[in-house]
Amino acid sequence: MRVHTTDLLTVSEVAHRSGFAASALRFYEREGLLSATRTSGGQRRYQRNVLRRLAFIRAARNVGLSLEEVAAALATLPDRRNPTRADWTRLSRSWRGRLDDQIAALSKLRDGLDSCIGCGCLSLKTCAMSNPGDRAAMAGAGAGHLPRLLRRP
Ligand code: FES
Repeated sequence: MRVHTTDLLTVSEVAHRSGFAASALRFYEREGLLSATRTSGGQRRYQRNVLRRLAFIRAARNVGLSLEEVAAALATLPDRRNPTRADWTRLSRSWRGRLDDQIAALSKLRDGLDSCIGCGCLSLKTCAMSNPGDRAAMAGAGAGHLPRLLRRP
């Protein structure tokens, strides 16, 4: 399919319409999540459907997917095309359990917060904030035993 140059969007147009900063667009391109062509002057130009891809990236990040996971999800699309409604349904279905786990982990954290505001113990063994549910007690001391969703850097 032939793409007319008037169908192409500039960085600022994409940034304005997607809500992502221009630096984020450059970053996602470097990471292989987006692609852009260049004008003869070296300026980036994006096809309009990049907006759908960016909406997908934002939704996936909101669910808590890492950049690598977003890239892996996009890589399951044939020919690396942009996600359709059906793709979104398929991919997002598998994220429901993940959201349930996050909600459960955050609920545990909130319950710990109720009992520890200002306590400051940060005990590796018994802290309700760094060790909610005392998970580490089952496997030894250390934050490495926290639920994965609460170990984000
Ligand atoms: S900081 Fe309050 S229980 Fe650890």
